[in-house]
Amino acid sequence: MSPRAPLDRRLAVAPMLDWTDRHCRFFLRLITSHTLLYTEMVTTGALIHGDRERHLGFDPAEHPVVLQLGGADPKAMALCARLGADWGYDEININVGCPSDRVQNGRFGACLMAEPQVVADCVAAMKAAVEIPVTVKTRIGIDERDSYGELADFVGRVAGSGCDALIVHARKAWLQGLSPRENREIPPLRYDWVQRLKGDFPSLAVVINGGIQTLDGAVELLNGLDGVMIGREAYQNPWMLAQADRLIFGDPAPTPSRLEVLERFLPYVEQGLAVGVPLNAMTRHILGLFQGQPGARAWRRHLSENAHRPGAGLEVLLAAPPLRRTAVAP
Ligand SMILES: Cc1cc2nc3c(=O)[nH]c(=O)nc-3n(C[C@H](O)[C@H](O)[C@H](O)COP(=O)(O)O)c2cc1C
Repeated sequence: MSPRAPLDRRLAVAPMLDWTDRHCRFFLRLITSHTLLYTEMVTTGALIHGDRERHLGFDPAEHPVVLQLGGADPKAMALCARLGADWGYDEININVGCPSDRVQNGRFGACLMAEPQVVADCVAAMKAAVEIPVTVKTRIGIDERDSYGELADFVGRVAGSGCDALIVHARKAWLQGLSPRENREIPPLRYDWVQRLKGDFPSLAVVINGGIQTLDGAVELLNGLDGVMIGREAYQNPWMLAQADRLIFGDPAPTPSRLEVLERFLPYVEQGLAVGVPLNAMTRHILGLFQGQPGARAWRRHLSENAHRPGAGLEVLLAAPPLRRTAVAP
């Protein structure tokens, strides 16, 4: 087998539960060829006891694609990393950033920042089980454990165990008292800490995340860091990624138009419908495509009102205002 090319981490779309499922990723891949895409978090329990095809299945067009795991038991994490590698994922990432109660009850996610050795043991066990990169997505602190020294100690241990890259959501998380949503908005962003980490761990690939809303902002942050990860803005306004291949990755290939992207999505939707995927499960991810454009509201409304109806098929999408217009154009 030829050696794998190293992953280009300069731009990534963040793992987002309920959002970055396979349909969303397929759609985003039509807009950008090079941006690294992440799955939603999948727990080790779900993979070991649940429906693997449902949790791991993806379309080859989604590459490069990273499987994010939630868990804290090194053996289970190694087993699931192996599953991910066997299914063809390009990297395995550990969630050390989610503060939800459910995740805390399972003793994983952001609360693992208090147990650096557990994270280091997971990374080491996973590295021993797979040849693809193993990475960690973390916060800059939790609760009162929020000094730069504690963060650097955490990163030192994780890097020492062989972690291939660290993705840092540049705000701390409060494990009690704030909802996951508030934990993405209220604690202040500290980009300077992420930049300082890169200075202190120069051989570790460091990717910054949190509050980045434009590609120009991403380009600026890339100066000195290895990558930028964008979450909400990429989902809610996917067209913000349209220039990513050119601007971030230096690929001169022409950018398709929104309509071309939609036209390429149609066969995917048709195939999905044919195997029983509800229309809305696919079209709910494309509501933001026309954000900021004339007709954006009519587009959203048409899909929101019609795509969830029982038996809704391709005709709903074809009757959406922008596609209808092209269908009657000379
Ligand atoms: C709906 C939603 C679901 C999320 N689910 C996950 C997840 O499964 N794993 C994870 O590490 N982070 C998750 N996050 C956090 C994002 O990956 C990201 O760190 C956060 O939104 C900050 O980036 P942004 O400001 O660019 O959105 C989620 C965020 C949102 C909005």
